[in-house]
Amino acid sequence: MNVFANYAHAGALGRTGENVRFSYQREAGPEQTVSLTMPLSETPYLAPPGEIHPIFDMNLPEGALHEAIRRMFLKVLPEIDKLTMLQITGRSQIGRLRVAGSVEEIKAVPERPLHDLLASAGTEDMFDDLLENYARYSGIAGAQPKVLARDNGSLASTAGYFSPSTASPTASADKTPERVTATGTTHIVKMFDSAQYPALATNEFLCLQAAKKAGLPVPAVWLAENRRCLVVERFDTKPDGGYLAFEDCCALDRRTSVEKYNGTYEQTAKLIAQTVAGVPIVGALRIFFESLVLSCAVRNGDAHRKNFGVLYDTPGQVWLAPIYDIITTTPYLPNDTWALLMDGSKRWPSRKKLMRFGVNSCLLTARQARESIDKTVDAVRATLPELDTHMADASSGGTEREFLEKIRHAWNTGIASLAV
Ligand SMILES: Nc1ncnc2c1ncn2[C@@H]1O[C@H](COP(=O)(O)OP(=O)(O)O)[C@@H](O)[C@H]1O
Ligand SMILES: [Mg+2]
Repeated sequence: MNVFANYAHAGALGRTGENVRFSYQREAGPEQTVSLTMPLSETPYLAPPGEIHPIFDMNLPEGALHEAIRRMFLKVLPEIDKLTMLQITGRSQIGRLRVAGSVEEIKAVPERPLHDLLASAGTEDMFDDLLENYARYSGIAGAQPKVLARDNGSLASTAGYFSPSTASPTASADKTPERVTATGTTHIVKMFDSAQYPALATNEFLCLQAAKKAGLPVPAVWLAENRRCLVVERFDTKPDGGYLAFEDCCALDRRTSVEKYNGTYEQTAKLIAQTVAGVPIVGALRIFFESLVLSCAVRNGDAHRKNFGVLYDTPGQVWLAPIYDIITTTPYLPNDTWALLMDGSKRWPSRKKLMRFGVNSCLLTARQARESIDKTVDAVRATLPELDTHMADASSGGTEREFLEKIRHAWNTGIASLAV
């Protein structure tokens, strides 16, 4: 198999005995770097026996998408190991890497008006149909059912291009008319099982609204009319129609996805500080810090190492990716806590503990840490009326309403825990 970075050949991936091996092709340059942990080299990179390199493991489907693909290919491929899964979904995945026999195999992805989907999403049939058409283009991790899809321009981007210097959109799409439409996927469609996780789409939508209010970089996100589906714009697209490289903090730490809940927030902060390049380190750490304050305030127990990442074009300029995957988890898991250790514990941190973390691990002054906490908590508080509107719209006595009430309760608990 060959590995491409935005259609340029980066190298070859294959098995040598027990090991999977990646070798760069001779002419590969910085824009073909496959991972910051695998700099350009003439020496091949061998993965441990039975494993694949973390960067190729990073986007392998997990959970519901993995199961759907396994079922779809059951007749021709009774057993799907990691390399086989990469063969299926590697042609279209998050970031700029593509895995295929030849460049011709990286075909354009069929378009679909996602705006219509938002208006009509809801039936199980629709998700089955999306899976059937887009599962093979969905090299994307995460437990929730989702596919990568390509919009036909029906959704006006409100985010635009997330630039290196600000880690935020430089301009809205209408201010950049030279933007070329990607021939690959443009959006992530997340469909939630409302029986298993009532109100989860609204939950994630509202948490991202709070992040936006706090001034954090957030991709454009739409909630379907029936509130069972969320469409998120990819933040790794470029104005020229190509993609930025993306690496999550699990891959950056040379770990595969199974280790996403291992480690500490202190290590993650250090990893981010060591990884970002060509942009102010404190700026990146402040965003990381505020996203953790937000996760604490909304009681998100799923802020694991795959839910933070970096973007880059060349290894000389690397910045923190926008915020993603923030949800209030305690309504579903009442005893849920921090996903990683902070100061040796997974208990929800107090204001004092977060302050200490901001100063010691995120290089903030005490005043900056205080301001970050207050601003972020205020943003969550300011999102409560929006939560109330959704609650008023949900039929009373139903599970949707019950879970929205639980989310409200969780936010109030989080806000109170971070009060002065
Ligand atoms: N807006 C985005 N643009 C590009 N990649 C994204 C975006 N949001 C998430 N991702 C990638 O997709 C993966 C799955 O998305 P996520 O929202 O975390 O799903 P889940 O809730 O199932 O964990 C993430 O781990 C990250 O690699
Ligand atoms: Mg996730």
